[in-house]
Amino acid sequence: MTITPNVAGNLALNLRKFDLSGFDPLLKELYQHDKYTYQHSVRVGHYMQRLGERLSLSSDQLEEAYLVGLLHDIGKLRMDKKILQKRSMLSTQELELMRAHPKESVAILKDYNLPDIITNAILHHHENLNGTGYYAVEGANLSLYSKMIRIVDSYDAMTSNRAYRTALPIDAAVHELQNGEGAFFDHELLQKFIATCDYNKRK
Ligand SMILES: [Fe+2]
Repeated sequence: MTITPNVAGNLALNLRKFDLSGFDPLLKELYQHDKYTYQHSVRVGHYMQRLGERLSLSSDQLEEAYLVGLLHDIGKLRMDKKILQKRSMLSTQELELMRAHPKESVAILKDYNLPDIITNAILHHHENLNGTGYYAVEGANLSLYSKMIRIVDSYDAMTSNRAYRTALPIDAAVHELQNGEGAFFDHELLQKFIATCDYNKRK
C-alpha cells in the first residue's frame, strides 16, 4: 500500500471528535523526513481502528485509538534520517537516541491539547507487559491503547519491507507475535488482533 500525505484523512474514520486537518503540517513534514515512518504511522492507525472495532470500542474510542496509531512516531521528526534509514545495526549511542522518540512524540504534541489517554499511549508504545520496554513500565500501568499499539506497531514493522530486511509473510509475523505473548503482548488483545489478520494476502 503506497500512502501519500493527502490520503491520511481518507483512511481515517469519519472523524467527529477530532479534526485531523490540524495535524496535516506535521504529517507532511514526517512524509518529507522519512517516508517509511509516515506510511507506517498511517497503517498503524488503520490497524488500531481495526482492532478497536473487534473490541467493540465506542466511536469516540475508535478515533482516539486511530490517533494514537497515526501520531505515535511523530517524534522521529527529531531524529537524524541517517539513524532512521540505517541498513546495519544501531550502535549503543544510536539506540539511546532511538529510545527517546516516544518522549519526543509527546513533546511535539504538547501544543495540540490531546487528551492524556492519547499522549500516554504514545509515550508507552514501546512498553512490554513484563516491564522490559523502553521506559520499563509494567503491564499493570499500561493503558488499553498502549497494549494495543504494542501489538499492531510490531505487526506492521514485521510485515513491511525495510532497508535492512524484507517483509515477513503474515503467518510468520503472527508466529513472532505469539512468541511474545504474555511477556510482551497482552494475550486477549493479541487473539483479537490475529483474528483480524487476512491470511489470504501477504500483508
Ligand atoms: Fe516507535
